[in-house]
Amino acid sequence: MTYQHITVKPLAGAIGAEILGIDLSKDIASEAMDEIRRAFLENLVVVFRDQDLTPDSQKAFSRHFGSSHINDFFPTVDGHPDVQLVAKNPEDTRNVGDVWHTDVSYVRKPPLGSMLYALEVPDAGGDTMFASMYNAYETLSDGMKELLEPLNAVHSATQSFGVRATGPEMRAKNKSMAFKYSEDAEQIAVHPVVRVHPETCRKALYVNRSFTKHLEGMTVEESAPLLNYLYDHMARPENTCRVRWEKGTLTFWDNRCAHHYALNDYQGQRRVMHRVTVLDDRRDNTTLTENAA
Ligand code: SIN
Repeated sequence: MTYQHITVKPLAGAIGAEILGIDLSKDIASEAMDEIRRAFLENLVVVFRDQDLTPDSQKAFSRHFGSSHINDFFPTVDGHPDVQLVAKNPEDTRNVGDVWHTDVSYVRKPPLGSMLYALEVPDAGGDTMFASMYNAYETLSDGMKELLEPLNAVHSATQSFGVRATGPEMRAKNKSMAFKYSEDAEQIAVHPVVRVHPETCRKALYVNRSFTKHLEGMTVEESAPLLNYLYDHMARPENTCRVRWEKGTLTFWDNRCAHHYALNDYQGQRRVMHRVTVLDDRRDNTTLTENAA
């Protein structure tokens, strides 16, 4: 199906597209909004260039997709508890997100997607890579698909936001971020390894290096060989695209079927983003397990 109200320019074979011809700070006609939704579901990651957004206008656009998530760990923009600050200053050596992951998989109702808006970017570097978990699933052998189908995995924020991760040693590496420790870091959520996307009904792998601890009913050590195989398989270049940021770029990705990786390949420069994480309001997916059938 073609588009009448927007222009969609793919970034790679498997995932990602730029959407041209839309000013996100203005009201968007419902026909164009329908096409943006379709482009999002078809491409998993959509990129809008040259936008001029305040936290309020970013949130207004995000509400076309769902309400926003309040993150327990990230610093937020003053007056906007639902707009997270993702920043790295010249003196910082650590960035946020340089491990393949999907956002907030450690809660029982993981979010629909994330919208990241670039306020300040380095001269070069600081790109974000994305990988299609549909492709990752579909390119497994039938034997592996059968093996994974009944499995669940346990997710938790401990490794990324637990006591160690939010302590003084990590803070020293990125003073701009200062993740807050919350007891929620110790909570766990169980999700199927193969998740059925609630809107497209396509199957996608749903385990990630940041937040998946182990397979349900197995130890961390027992789970590691299979999970590590999947993590390597997911990150194959054919499953990916790469977004080069410019000031004013907004990228919106589908956390239900895409992973991302923020490259920490720039030092001594500032990169500042505002992130709104969009909840999956449409359905009660308290237990994602029901999707796995
Ligand atoms: C994130 O992991 O949400 C941050 C991604 C980025 O800064 O590119």
